[in-house]
Amino acid sequence: MRAKIVAGNWKMNTVPSDGVGLVVDILEKLNPSQVGDTRVIISPPFTHLIDVIDHVWEEPHVSVAAQNCHFEDSGAFTGEISAAMIADLNIDAVIIGHSERRQYFNEDDALLAKKVDAAVRHSLLPLFCVGESLDQRKSGNHEQVVKDQLTNGLFHLSPDSFKSAIIAYEPVWAIGTGETATPEQAQEMHAAIRAHVADKYGAEIAENVSILYGGSVKPSNAREIFSQPDVDGGLVGGASLETKGFVEIVHAMA
Ligand code: G3P
Repeated sequence: MRAKIVAGNWKMNTVPSDGVGLVVDILEKLNPSQVGDTRVIISPPFTHLIDVIDHVWEEPHVSVAAQNCHFEDSGAFTGEISAAMIADLNIDAVIIGHSERRQYFNEDDALLAKKVDAAVRHSLLPLFCVGESLDQRKSGNHEQVVKDQLTNGLFHLSPDSFKSAIIAYEPVWAIGTGETATPEQAQEMHAAIRAHVADKYGAEIAENVSILYGGSVKPSNAREIFSQPDVDGGLVGGASLETKGFVEIVHAMA
């Protein structure tokens, strides 16, 4: 049975003192009977990780993810944070390959593959992001783009290592735009991703990998998107910064 997951990617938002208040508020408002077996992942900026993990580590359904990591364990990389450091904080996962890192920090597939290796090396769940641009979708290349991102960034993993991965499909044209993929568009790509995983790793692993949708998920559209057979949850940006909306999205997964 693959995991149902709703993750909140806070990106570069909130200062630590506000962030802790947001986490406490979310935890208070989550209704265990409506959360069911959905796993909630909170992904705050690095500066908040210690305080946030202190508040969630006793929560059975809540995990914490970093938003990035370096591919080396240590060294002369001023300003960088390694997977080793993140793992030492008892953090569970790390987002890798978000389109904003691909776009603004020129992170290509080869670099991302090394970041995936660093995450796996330190037992962090790689939450690996893929997604096409609007031009790529308009030209009909969107499925091949996503397949290439998976092949070149994630599919070097052994079957056992891959089993820890979570995939997030985030069409770049839907991120932060209010332009959400239709449930049918999301389902079509998620099914293509799952078929690509099956081609590489076999049907059983493909059936059990969680594939999340991200891109303008809101309380108003979450339930319909999450009801698609190959959508196993969401990676939520803007809406994760507001307790009521994020809790409604989590509850919509159940
Ligand atoms: O990682 C999630 C993010 O990229 C989606 O952002 O604001 O469209 O939900 P948003």
